[in-house]
Amino acid sequence: MCGIVAYLGKKPAQPILVESLKRLEYRGYDSAGIALLRDGGISVKKTSGRIAALEQILDAPRNVDTVGIGHTRWATHGVPNTVNAHPHVDYTGKIAVVHNGIIENYSTLKTWLQSEGVAFLSETDTEVISNLIGYLYCNGDPSDRCGGQSQFEWAVQQALQKLHGTFGVAILCSDCPDTIIGAKRGSPLILGVGNGEYILASDAAAIVEHTTQAIYLADNEMVTVGSGGFNTKTINNVVVAKDLTQIEFSLDQIELGGFEHHMLKEIFEQPESLSTCLGGRINKQCGKIMLGGIADHLRDLTQAKHIIFTACGTAFHAGLVGEFLLEHLARIPAETEYASEFRYRNPIISDSTIVIAISQSGETADTLAAVEQAKERGATVLGIVNVVGSSIARATDAGIYLHVGPEIGVASTKAFTAQVAVLSMLAIELGRRRHVSSDEAARCIDELSQIPEKINTILEQSNHIRDIAAANVDRENWLFLGRGFNYPVALEGALKLKEISYIHAEGLPAAEMKHGPIALIVDGMPAVFIATAGPQYDKIMGNIEEVKARGGKIIVVATEGDNEIGRHADHLITIPDAPELFQPMLTVIPLQLLAYHAAVLRGHDVDKPRNLAKSVTVE
Ligand code: G6P
Repeated sequence: MCGIVAYLGKKPAQPILVESLKRLEYRGYDSAGIALLRDGGISVKKTSGRIAALEQILDAPRNVDTVGIGHTRWATHGVPNTVNAHPHVDYTGKIAVVHNGIIENYSTLKTWLQSEGVAFLSETDTEVISNLIGYLYCNGDPSDRCGGQSQFEWAVQQALQKLHGTFGVAILCSDCPDTIIGAKRGSPLILGVGNGEYILASDAAAIVEHTTQAIYLADNEMVTVGSGGFNTKTINNVVVAKDLTQIEFSLDQIELGGFEHHMLKEIFEQPESLSTCLGGRINKQCGKIMLGGIADHLRDLTQAKHIIFTACGTAFHAGLVGEFLLEHLARIPAETEYASEFRYRNPIISDSTIVIAISQSGETADTLAAVEQAKERGATVLGIVNVVGSSIARATDAGIYLHVGPEIGVASTKAFTAQVAVLSMLAIELGRRRHVSSDEAARCIDELSQIPEKINTILEQSNHIRDIAAANVDRENWLFLGRGFNYPVALEGALKLKEISYIHAEGLPAAEMKHGPIALIVDGMPAVFIATAGPQYDKIMGNIEEVKARGGKIIVVATEGDNEIGRHADHLITIPDAPELFQPMLTVIPLQLLAYHAAVLRGHDVDKPRNLAKSVTVE
């Protein structure tokens, strides 16, 4: 969590830092600040609240202030107030730091620094970094430095070596008016390399306006940037050569494009994003699927005895659908584990186990740790990731990118449908290689290719879904119920409603309701059923009646042409007909819209829900 940025170039740094922070605000938005190198010192402005609050307290930008750092915060250590906001300046006033991550040994280091007479102002772990660098900078013995190494660089390296935990940092020193140092371990950091200017940020979204050339730092690497260029080293002072990489997305992909919120834009993008995800991978003519990223692992996958998906949040729900798909089409035993649980378990991993991490951002700390844990145990680890070059994409042996462009809304939408699409392709291809006939595989491919177009007809019901939300938005408890392939969708529908509407919702396999949750049903309580055409249709009709008999308000997602179900429902939403195994990409759309409209009707900031962040880079 938290977004960091730094600029060094010829332009006034302040407006560039502020605009970049706005692009990183999805990473945290409880306080913000910037520091500029100014007149031989460091000028800091910071405040609790969002970037808009920061803008209120900034002075007019000066052309001579061309070097600075900025931060947007998601609090871990210390409440979100002005003192705890970043940047943190050290006790000497010479060093300023912005930080994304968690320093696990901050308490020990703080106690030691305090015993050396260093005073602390905030409750943050970050202030330990600035004070430690400042202490070493002032007290370090110059004879310890290696050739060419500045005192600033040396102090940063010494300090970073003492830190346990994770960090992406950008650091200024008032004695070095032409220098920024960035470094990372476990948190992302990218250096955009422009024409005589450099922008260092947690995410390419903050860079693309200035340049599409970038270097991606690896863990325990640092970059020292000056107007004459940059050098990259490990934090142990070993020089490393880095290649420039082309950033793949453009700015208009992250603009709102006429939509009121990123989430709504991303919901409506799904026909197109899904087409892009499927495009070039599906070959309808020869009935095959090409998954180039994992081509070298297809044999192992086909022979796998056990596949484990690991993920968090919405990506976890996609993994649950993947479990059903793999078992159904490929007949390979599969299970889905929360990454936060998997990493601390003692999982049984053999030569024929394949672990697949699913993550939109590719930066989720628990998922990344699960990847490392699986690798340590000798598993082949693959990734299904959206952000190209992200930490999980690089940590896995191989993977499949979603290719749906940046997802900015904190509530994940288009990434979910693409994750399920990728899992569908994987299951069809493995099925074809194992026992599914060519005709059956071709039929599946044909059905899958029709999904993007079918989403359009659901999006047309957005106003109708808003009316349903309006009729029920004052209810504080909702149930979401589905069976089979649509059970994970029920979980996802409940998660969406919780995270942006702040309405308590539970997602359940419909039949489980009678083992406890049925006691919650009171007159008028909304219960959203996914009751589409499929083998469990009659069963779920029974579950609908059970809720109706107890006064629940029945909202049903059903298949077009089902003339019966309308008589059992208070509100009806329809999806085009599709095989049950591909329905999750359709049934989730009305639930995304329901949550979106409920949140807007309740007056919430849909793209920045309270207490959440898009990319959870802390444990
Ligand atoms: C956060 C986001 C969720 C997301 C989850 C996993 O909690 O708010 O929307 O599903 O992280 O993120 P990932 O980037 O790993 O898919």
